[in-house]
Amino acid sequence: MRVMVVGSGGREHALAARLRASPQVSDLICAPGNGGTARIARNLPVNVEDVNAIVQLARTELVDFVVVGPEAPLVAGVVDALTEAGIPAFGPKRAGAQLEGSKAYSKEFMRRHGVPTAEFAVFEELAAARSFVEQSGRAWVVKADGLAAGKGVIVAEDVAETLDALERMLGQREFGQAGARVVLEQRLRGQEVSYHIVLDGQRYLPLAAAQDHKRLGDGDRGPNTGGMGAYSPPPVVTPEVEQRILSQVVEPTVKGLISDGLDFRGTLFIGLMIEDGQPRVLEYNTRFGDPETEVLMARWGGDILPLLLGAASGDLSQVTPRWDAAVALCVVLAAPGYPGNIRKGLPITGLDVAAGIPGVMVAHAGTQLQDGVVQTSGGRVLCVTATGDQIDEVADRAYQAVAALHFDGMQYRRDIGHHARRAPC
Ligand code: AMP
Ligand code: GLY
Repeated sequence: MRVMVVGSGGREHALAARLRASPQVSDLICAPGNGGTARIARNLPVNVEDVNAIVQLARTELVDFVVVGPEAPLVAGVVDALTEAGIPAFGPKRAGAQLEGSKAYSKEFMRRHGVPTAEFAVFEELAAARSFVEQSGRAWVVKADGLAAGKGVIVAEDVAETLDALERMLGQREFGQAGARVVLEQRLRGQEVSYHIVLDGQRYLPLAAAQDHKRLGDGDRGPNTGGMGAYSPPPVVTPEVEQRILSQVVEPTVKGLISDGLDFRGTLFIGLMIEDGQPRVLEYNTRFGDPETEVLMARWGGDILPLLLGAASGDLSQVTPRWDAAVALCVVLAAPGYPGNIRKGLPITGLDVAAGIPGVMVAHAGTQLQDGVVQTSGGRVLCVTATGDQIDEVADRAYQAVAALHFDGMQYRRDIGHHARRAPC
């Protein structure tokens, strides 16, 4: 089978590495891929936001199955277009991807289907939003409605910061069209958890819970990022909490997807806040998380193709997730300047030494091959992933691999997994 993975991040490298190991995959294309996927697949250039170009590439290369990594092509309708062209694809159609493409839509969905989430209000007019905040007399989380590459959320500390965020989004249009509508949300406290389910339109399979680290700095300080590291499983998801996630969040969500007629086939990544054992939904994403995918793929046992193909073809009945590695943890190495303006083109050393450590995989996130040399080309550059039986030992091995790697200005957190580790970080 000829398979094409769309995207260029660590998530896509981790998925591609799993697909490369599938006995059913004869040819693997990454579009556009990165310096890591170049070693295991054929990288072919494409603009991931250009739906027609993706379909054209899949046709020219006689691709049998497309796995879509990022949200932008899903929201732009790439799965609708591939389906029309007769090419099976993993990921929801445009209608289902709206759960990520519009925060107002996803909050209305949660309200309609009784999914626990924070109180909210939606605004398009600056004056109306301002007076709502002033009258409430408290701080709100301010969210751009549309896609903003993980940067469209401002967790304000007080009324003044809330008003300032509104001015930036609705007034100055800092986030362009994505911020032309905003969701004001009550701030939730607790621990965040990333909970993925894979759906085939009717059925769903829960994957293992994971925990991301959104802030740039140790101790969960500093600006929000796309994610600086992850691990699985997080201890905050006890068996009892997982039961609540399934019965209070997943069940009503899946029922809602079906009754709204969305025929959702793909990954639904539910961002949760767990406070005193109670889950509430922060957001839906309609694709695999990054870097959560790196740890989920590292733990997954066996062939990944039946999961992805089963979802796309509407029959997951034959698939049962098996988690071969008890624990996985990954540390993201980010470029200087990240999450702001970054420097690119920096040579990376130590890749072979790091990858040679047992149980370690280095997923490339923002790299490219330039004249045989791997260099940085994005904000999140590498995602160093280790697996094993016990979190402290796994973290030690991940950091041992990190110590072997270098590029100028490399930034990373030293405390990934801190909620789970016994040993001080
Ligand atoms: P989102 O894209 O909606 O998940 O927001 C990005 C990040 O902002 C989340 O991962 C949280 O860290 C934070 N955040 C979002 N909504 C809330 C909320 N209601 N309360 C507290 N933190 C939030
Ligand atoms: N790690 C968070 C995300 O993929 O959105």
